[in-house]
Amino acid sequence: MAEDLLTVENLYTQFERTDDTVYAVNGVSFSVAPGETLGIVGESGSGKSVSLLSVLGLLRGTGRVMSGTAKFMGTNLLKLRRRQLEDIRGRDIGVVFQDPMSSLNPTMRIGDQIMEAMLTHQYTNRKGAFARTLDLLEEVGIPEPKTRFRNYPHEFSGGMRQRVMIAMAIACEPQLLIADEPTTALDVTVQMQILSLLQKLRDKRRMSIVMITHDFGVATNFCDRIIVMYAGKVMESASLDEFLKRPAHPYTIGLKASIIEVGHRDKELRPIPGMADTLNEVPQSCPYAARCRFAQDRCRQELPELRHVGANHYVACHRAEEVMADVG
Ligand SMILES: Nc1ncnc2c1ncn2[C@@H]1O[C@H](COP(=O)(O)OP(=O)(O)O)[C@@H](O)[C@H]1O
Ligand code: SF4
Ligand SMILES: [Mg+2]
Repeated sequence: MAEDLLTVENLYTQFERTDDTVYAVNGVSFSVAPGETLGIVGESGSGKSVSLLSVLGLLRGTGRVMSGTAKFMGTNLLKLRRRQLEDIRGRDIGVVFQDPMSSLNPTMRIGDQIMEAMLTHQYTNRKGAFARTLDLLEEVGIPEPKTRFRNYPHEFSGGMRQRVMIAMAIACEPQLLIADEPTTALDVTVQMQILSLLQKLRDKRRMSIVMITHDFGVATNFCDRIIVMYAGKVMESASLDEFLKRPAHPYTIGLKASIIEVGHRDKELRPIPGMADTLNEVPQSCPYAARCRFAQDRCRQELPELRHVGANHYVACHRAEEVMADVG
């Protein structure tokens, strides 16, 4: 079997605040195989973004990785100097965020910004970068590339700006694309267009994608494998097929049910009643216990570790077998 492209192990990240500490990521592990699309789902505040920002060296404020490893093609990204990591980020790992406006330079023509992405990483020379920028604009579905090259970000719609971000992210042909809620700020039709663009690019380039989303529909339509996060921990990890057929964590099942209830028009994850507050300590017992209808004394005393429950299927629940039997 091929080596994983990215392997994150036991990642812990916290933020110091004036009066307390926020334990945002508490022992997260996951891996991404070449060509695979991994979905990371969970309610807002579950630690999805912080996990990936930690790996990319992009934590803001007082955020600090306390321990863990993040091996990308064998190199632990968490041990690299800033310059070395910047070199990998943008060249070998492309990143697309929710809000393209915050990542684009408003005073620079979009063509120049895409060119710069290539020149910074010495991907090609100026002439090559110019020609490639026009090709990229076309590839991401921006009509009249020669004219659009000269436009500034404010002259683009939200969807078009996200296309520009995608062009920048794939400019140096990265092996891995990390997309953090790339369609959340867009209206539904544009969301679909951007997702199908990503799908097309993935299939053509065989790149791996990590898709962070709080939209269950996006995860199940787009991803090969899904991990569910809660309270800065991975609750369940399974192939899409296993995930749909044999969900094993009560939280996953709750999420799926909450989507069916609200129908197909709005597939956002609805917080299940009793959503955990900001974490001011590392969970020592099941973080989901207060909301779980399967909870027993053991759940309130002992932290469930991720364990194998089926082919490529892992779950952090003391009672996964009973949960699966109950659902099945
Ligand atoms: N810069 C920050 N300072 C303090 N706390 C933060 C910061 N960024 C994120 N957090 C906290 O970390 C937790 C996880 O956030 P995040 O990873 O952004 O969640 P999401 O799953 O919605 O992406 C949240 O409780 C959030 O409030
Ligand atoms: S460990 Fe217990 S409380 Fe936690 S999800 Fe499983 S059954 Fe529910
Ligand atoms: Mg987020």
